[in-house]
Amino acid sequence: MKNKVLVSSKKQITENRLIKVAVAQGDGIGPEIMKATLSILKAANAPIEPEYIRLGEQVYLSGNSAGIDKKAWKIINENKIIFKAPITTPQGKGFKSLNVTLRKSLGLFANVRPVNALHPYVNTHFPEMDVVIIRENEEDLYAGIEHQQTEDVVQCLKLITRPGCEKIVRYAFEYARVYNRRKVTCMVKDNIMKLTDGLFHRVFKEIAAEYPEIESNSQIIDIGSAKLAAHPEDYDVIVTTNLYGDIISDIAAEIAGSVGMAGSANIGTNVAMFEAIHGSAPDIAGQNIANPSGLLNAAVMMLAHLGQREIADKIKNAWLATIEDGYHTADIYQKEISLEKVGTSQFAEEVIKRLGKFPSFFIASNLREGSGNIQIADYKRLPSKKELVGVDVFIDWQGNDPELIGKTLSAVKSYNLKLKMITNRGVKVFPEGRKETYCTDHWRCRFVSESADIFKPMPIYGSINFEQVVALLSKLNNTGFDVIKTENLYEFDGRRGFSLGQGE
Ligand code: NAI
Ligand code: MG
Repeated sequence: MKNKVLVSSKKQITENRLIKVAVAQGDGIGPEIMKATLSILKAANAPIEPEYIRLGEQVYLSGNSAGIDKKAWKIINENKIIFKAPITTPQGKGFKSLNVTLRKSLGLFANVRPVNALHPYVNTHFPEMDVVIIRENEEDLYAGIEHQQTEDVVQCLKLITRPGCEKIVRYAFEYARVYNRRKVTCMVKDNIMKLTDGLFHRVFKEIAAEYPEIESNSQIIDIGSAKLAAHPEDYDVIVTTNLYGDIISDIAAEIAGSVGMAGSANIGTNVAMFEAIHGSAPDIAGQNIANPSGLLNAAVMMLAHLGQREIADKIKNAWLATIEDGYHTADIYQKEISLEKVGTSQFAEEVIKRLGKFPSFFIASNLREGSGNIQIADYKRLPSKKELVGVDVFIDWQGNDPELIGKTLSAVKSYNLKLKMITNRGVKVFPEGRKETYCTDHWRCRFVSESADIFKPMPIYGSINFEQVVALLSKLNNTGFDVIKTENLYEFDGRRGFSLGQGE
């Protein structure tokens, strides 16, 4: 097969064995930018052996809604490293996002996106910008667990786990350490989501303490993303949960100037995937005008991840020198600054000519020894005492008088359980709600032990057992209430494991 072995001559492989990589050439501009990128890797003696896999449009259109077939899975399982050009997701319903499929099935927990300005060669308002966004990639609202519960109400479960937080936060600090970064910023919304985002923040503080040489700070995501958009030069590494990371990584790429420039990595414990951040650009496909820089930067990240730091530096520096020398593809071409507008393959040739050269204007890439070898220790669960102290029963009720449902529920006699309060969309409406609060058909009714002392500022709940919950549900059902779900209330080592209602 053509291109099968990039470094074919044994002489060229002085110290490195060949590393097999599953390569997807992608759709649209994919094959052109992949060819250009691989030609640079080959010229730089990167010890990479591509094994080609088919992903994307053709696979989707052959009737496979996942966009990936068994043969590709087999090669991925064997090679553990995926280098992927962008693919086209056909329009229409029923096609699953290939990226989501790959991330979830391969446990690619960290999405790493470095974005830096290349001013004045790439137009940006933020010439000093140099940010790496490390986004948790598997959990949060992206678990995709959604339900319609009543006529009015749908829900999406936001799942944040301690092992998930520990992995991503530790990855961020280890990344900062091996890639010479000075600061890690955590962005969450734990003033509102005290349990979920609160856990992420708590883990961040715990782990930050283990890296005293790296500066750390935290920001609430709303002001954090606003500040990132206005002063990106103030940030170094940002670590955050899935949804916030999705949003701020696009903000960062956009304000840096060009979608054609940035690469990204999806890192797992056993497998990693590298790709450009842009899509398959069908509008310019087949014209030899696409910018291969995003994919090339992904290749540099892959080499760094594989511990090939010298070759990663060599390619990155040749690329920076090419940009500085004014050889620009159409997407970044500027009449006053560029020397020549070049096509995809010519750009690659200019990079190859500069292998071994250093940039003079930009800071040269100089990876630290040991970069890429980021090992995250296995999670160890600490045992805690878990005690059931109540239950939230969610009821579909089409009335609109909180006093009526509150008094009816209070009158239900169920062994050792009493109604503590009712909320609607999280706001307490019984006892002592306000007339102005808008009520939907979705009532969260909190039951606790008969003996609970709930009027103290720090209520003492008292334990209940699950049989009592089952008996309560049966009573409610017999009384005609439409129970749509329950959520048990636990204390862990005496600490409350549930949020209070607003106004509770
Ligand atoms: P896109 O990123 O492909 O294109 C947006 C604009 O940027 C277009 O004008 C395009 O010409 C330009 N552009 C993108 N990459 C460029 C490059 N390397 N050089 C020069 N110009 C470049 O986004 P779009 O149009 O929304 O999506 C097109 C297809 O790509 C869709 O089918 C989408 O599903 C897919 N896609 C795939 C991704 C992946 O495989 N990781 C990521 C994003 C989109
Ligand atoms: Mg996105």
